[in-house]
Amino acid sequence: MKKLTTLLCAVALAVSAPVFAKTVKIGMAIDDLRLERWQKDRDFFVEKAESLGAKVFVQSSNSNETAQISQIENMISRGVDVLVIIPYNGKVLSNVIAEAKSEGIQVLAYDRLINNADIDFYLSFDNEKVGELQAEALIKHKADGNFFLMGGSPVDNNAKLFRQGQMNVLQPLIDKGDIKVVGDQWVDGWLAENALKIMENALTANDNNIDVVVASNDSTAGGAIQALDAQGLAGKVYISGQDADLAASRRVVAGTQTMTIYKPIKLLATTAAELAVQMGNGQMPEANSSLNNGTKDVPSFLLTPIPVDKSNIDQTVIADGFHTKADVYQ
Ligand code: GAL
Repeated sequence: MKKLTTLLCAVALAVSAPVFAKTVKIGMAIDDLRLERWQKDRDFFVEKAESLGAKVFVQSSNSNETAQISQIENMISRGVDVLVIIPYNGKVLSNVIAEAKSEGIQVLAYDRLINNADIDFYLSFDNEKVGELQAEALIKHKADGNFFLMGGSPVDNNAKLFRQGQMNVLQPLIDKGDIKVVGDQWVDGWLAENALKIMENALTANDNNIDVVVASNDSTAGGAIQALDAQGLAGKVYISGQDADLAASRRVVAGTQTMTIYKPIKLLATTAAELAVQMGNGQMPEANSSLNNGTKDVPSFLLTPIPVDKSNIDQTVIADGFHTKADVYQ
């Protein structure tokens, strides 16, 4: 009898074992897949998460906050275990996140912080440092004259952190009177076409007397450089960027964009996939930092950004396989 019971228990265990092998379901809500950078994030994330046995649903809101909220609601009703969110507007997700939390869903803010919400973890780069690196690279070339500040999307928390970092470096030179800020605009949706118009207007308003453009990423730098080029100023005006997009990497080697910031996206995305699977299994990831989002101090993990110009693009972006040498130098 004892033997039979043991056997039955073993059979029961064998039959029920797969039920315990949990497949973590992840909903990845991306702001805008129209930008090159986020396509890389998605690809690396999905590949890694699936290799860890997770299932991933991806949606992009294309810079539309209402669309993003309903995409997240949809993921909640599909029964995801973890939400990985790259918010378009970090300030409008409080309610939908409260809904997720009441369903026991874990929330990971990816690259951009979500404000005023009970999120579980934040994974990003040191974004204030990004801004400092951009401004430091620019003032190495020109530490006086007319500077135009081109901020990123006004509803992206990162855009504010980049600006804060830039001002850490620029403010003392502004106070000394060396640098004159001749304009300050923020680019909706980080879109190149919006940056192009802003730059055209800025050039007109200043009779083309602009020495430096503090652009916060590559898509906006690209739009601005198109406007500079139309005035014969591409390569004469120093301009920053961020993301090491392919087009931007080409501009850096061609000399029309002074610098970019390389953020190893593969590391960010694969780390995020590991964290999401961990969180889906009820484990809290390890933090190296903490950022207050208005509701709480959010345990965070911040990676290190790398400044890139002509002199080190081979040793960074290319050596890392982010782009091939042939693609960058064409
Ligand atoms: C920021 C991000 C940057 C850039 C920008 C536009 O939040 O940190 O790397 O991609 O969005 O999408």
